[in-house]
Amino acid sequence: MNLRNELVDVLHHNLSGEFDKEIINRMIEKPKFENMGDLAFPCFELAKVLRKSPQSIALELSKQLQSPLFEKAEAINGYLNVFYNKDYVTTIVIQQILNQKGQYGCSNLGDHKVMTIDFSSPNIAKPFSMGHLRSTVIGNSLALIAEKVGYRPIRINHLGDWGTQFGKLMVAYKLWGNQELLTKQPIKQLLNLYVKFHEEAEKDCKLENLAREWFKKLEDGDQEAIHLWKWFRDESLKEFSRIYELLGIEFDSYCGEAFYNNKMDHVVQLLEEQKLIEQSEGAQVVKLEEDLPPCLIKKSDGTTLYATRDLAAALYRQETYQFAKSLYVVGNEQNLHFKQVFAVLEKMGYTWTEGMIHVPFGMMLKDGKKMSTRKGKVVLLEEVLYDAISLALEEIKKKNPALLLKDKVAREVGVGAVIFHDLKNFRKNDIDFSLEDMLKFEGETGPYVQYAHARASSLLRKGEYEEEHGAICIKDKEAWNIIIHLHSFPVVVQKSYQEYDPSQIAKYLINLSKSFNKYYSSVRILENDHLKQQRLTLVYTIKIVLNEGLRLLGIQTPNEM
Ligand code: ARG
Repeated sequence: MNLRNELVDVLHHNLSGEFDKEIINRMIEKPKFENMGDLAFPCFELAKVLRKSPQSIALELSKQLQSPLFEKAEAINGYLNVFYNKDYVTTIVIQQILNQKGQYGCSNLGDHKVMTIDFSSPNIAKPFSMGHLRSTVIGNSLALIAEKVGYRPIRINHLGDWGTQFGKLMVAYKLWGNQELLTKQPIKQLLNLYVKFHEEAEKDCKLENLAREWFKKLEDGDQEAIHLWKWFRDESLKEFSRIYELLGIEFDSYCGEAFYNNKMDHVVQLLEEQKLIEQSEGAQVVKLEEDLPPCLIKKSDGTTLYATRDLAAALYRQETYQFAKSLYVVGNEQNLHFKQVFAVLEKMGYTWTEGMIHVPFGMMLKDGKKMSTRKGKVVLLEEVLYDAISLALEEIKKKNPALLLKDKVAREVGVGAVIFHDLKNFRKNDIDFSLEDMLKFEGETGPYVQYAHARASSLLRKGEYEEEHGAICIKDKEAWNIIIHLHSFPVVVQKSYQEYDPSQIAKYLINLSKSFNKYYSSVRILENDHLKQQRLTLVYTIKIVLNEGLRLLGIQTPNEM
């Protein structure tokens, strides 16, 4: 049931199908003042076509409007103002949520088709930075939302486990490394080596060449190079797994760049067969139309590139999963790269390229500036998560000293705060990293929404709520506001899917929590009268939707905090 769609249907019918449903839908407005109804339909454009006055059209429509969902309709100054039948709508919305529970808001836009989602994809031997957090939490949420609207998501971690940075690390390790230290604190030591390499390379240009040689050795299968690479990779993965566990995120595939090493010749061969590949200054490239620069496939020394691996990965994924859609959740700065990769695939004649979408996002800034691994200016995600958890624990101890399982709740709240801080922003905007902002338990934060959920749970416990289906009659003004919010959840989910934008769900949850808090402070929910059960039913549906909304963002919902 959707109130707006219902009005569209009725109007469509009453206008004898002369106007497209989509046009009607676009024309419907929300009146500025409450006494003008819940939805308004302006009749001025129809007047031109039907050669009648707007007011007479509105009047005619008002007489014909018949639906149990609408109480009345008035024709005012050329507008049809429609008023919901609040009791009926309330009952329908609540029944729907009680019947569907966590399924509320599900749809079948995806028709069970596969959607691969390439996200997180950190670089081996580098720390998991706050920058990668963005891809990780946005991608994870998009996978959950896609599933909700009927896709089968495949979560792929395209690890950056190949590339020239390994040459640099090997050189640095051989010159300044210490095996014992590296085994103890792998990522920290690898980062130090990486930073030291770049400092030294500024003074000594031979180092860059040496690094290239070592990477070439790796590509050629040199024993020592492979051994070091494996070691760096294993140690990094251990650290990444800890982070994914903290975040509660799992992947279906960890096939990273190295996985495609033996699949690239095939790509080059296909490109050659189609005569798409050209020599350019010793390198092999595919020239592209429009204003795109050529896509580099092989360097002059024969080593392959990031783009070549992405081409091989796309072919592999289509063959393995037959995806209908393929998302790449990767920062804005790779816009050109994905344009080039998609353009090459299109030139190769693959129609499935249509379903490939780069979902870019802005940067995580520190004091307004970009964070850079090279200079060691990174905020380490793992440290941030632990800081968040311990701050959450302090807060919980203050607020609710008797709470059992404090550590578990602190983990859910701390991690949830970090995730929410990221997802509440429209992904294309840059966001400033601020531990303080993330952890505010008031305002537009994860803990604020989690707290609303915990409050709902506690009301249900105290009121000894037992589920009961039946007509609902709640007359409070604050309750109606909540009903309208609850009603819009499925639409918000669909829009956040269509725009690949979890922030719409985050904002929705803030607003629902606000309405609920208002209700809580103005109505005595637990008052023992004949309406108590009905008020608690409303609270229960709020709990269901808050829980489901947070789940779609990848955030846990403690029942007490
Ligand atoms: N490892 C890359 C980076 O950190 C991101 C990889 C994104 N996925 C891809 N298929 N290119 O910049």
